[in-house]
Amino acid sequence: MPFKHDVVVCKSTEAVCEAAYSMIIAETEANLEAKHITSFALSGGGTPRGLYKMLANRLDLFKEKKAMKFIMGDDRLVPLDHADSNFNMATECLLKHLPKECIIEVEPTPAVPTTGSPENGEGGARIVAEDYQKRVLSELPTRTVKNERGEEVQIPIVDIVLLGFGSDGHTASVFPDSIASREDKNSFSVSYPSPTMVPKVWRVTMTPIAIQHAKHVIVLACSKDKSWVVRGVRDDTPQGEVPVARFLRNCEGKVTFILDEGAATTTE
Ligand code: 6PG
Repeated sequence: MPFKHDVVVCKSTEAVCEAAYSMIIAETEANLEAKHITSFALSGGGTPRGLYKMLANRLDLFKEKKAMKFIMGDDRLVPLDHADSNFNMATECLLKHLPKECIIEVEPTPAVPTTGSPENGEGGARIVAEDYQKRVLSELPTRTVKNERGEEVQIPIVDIVLLGFGSDGHTASVFPDSIASREDKNSFSVSYPSPTMVPKVWRVTMTPIAIQHAKHVIVLACSKDKSWVVRGVRDDTPQGEVPVARFLRNCEGKVTFILDEGAATTTE
C-alpha cells in the first residue's frame, strides 16, 4: 500500500526548524481564522529546540490570542525542571512565555522515585500516563476509533504532532519492543528506552494509535544515522531492519518529513 506523505529536504538543522516553523504558523493562523484552537503535541530531544525558540517570536498568536494548546507528545519521567525533561527544554525555549491554560503538562511525580529502574519503574510510569491521558482527553476534542482488533478506543484529536526519530528507529518514546509499541487501547502509554538510548529513565508517550489519528504529523530528522529510519518508514518495501516508527505509514492524516541531507540519504 503506497504511503502518502510529503518530504522537504533542507541544508541544515536550522533550515529544518525554519521550514517547520513556517508550516506550523500557517496552519495555526488558518485554524484561528476558522475560530479553531490548534492542538500541538511537542516532541523532545535536541532538534526541535531551534523551532521552539522561533515560535517564541509569535507571542501575538500564542500568548495574546491563545491560538495553540500545547501537550507533550512524550517526555522523560523526571521532575519538570530537570535537564533531561522535554517539558523543561520546551519551557526554556517557548512555554515560559505562555499562560498556563495554553499548556497541558505531565505530572511526573508518581514515577520519579523508580524512574531509573527498568524492573521497578513501570507501575509509577503507568500512574503518570493514566493521569495524563485523562487530562488530555478531558481538555481536547476527542473521537472514538477502532483498533486492529475492532475494539473502540477514545483518542484526542490532535492537530499537529511533532516527532523526531532516534537512531534505534524510535519515534516519540515508542521504542522497539517497548510497552508503548504494543499498546492499542490507550492514547498514552509508557516505555523504557532501548539499550543504546539515553537518558535511562521511564517515559510517557503518545501511542501509535493516537499518533496515527493526528490531523498532521510533522517529523523532523537530521543526520545520516537517522536515514535508515526515514527509508524504513518511507519505502513501500523495506530493505533490511524495519524501524518501529514504520507504524507512521498507517497515519490517516497528513504526514510531512522535514529532513536535512544526511537524514534524506537514500543509500546505506
Ligand atoms: C525524546 C524525543 C525523541 C526524539 C528523538 C530525536 O524524548 O528523546 O521525544 O523521540 O525526538 O530521539 O532526538 P534528537 O532531535 O535529539 O535527534
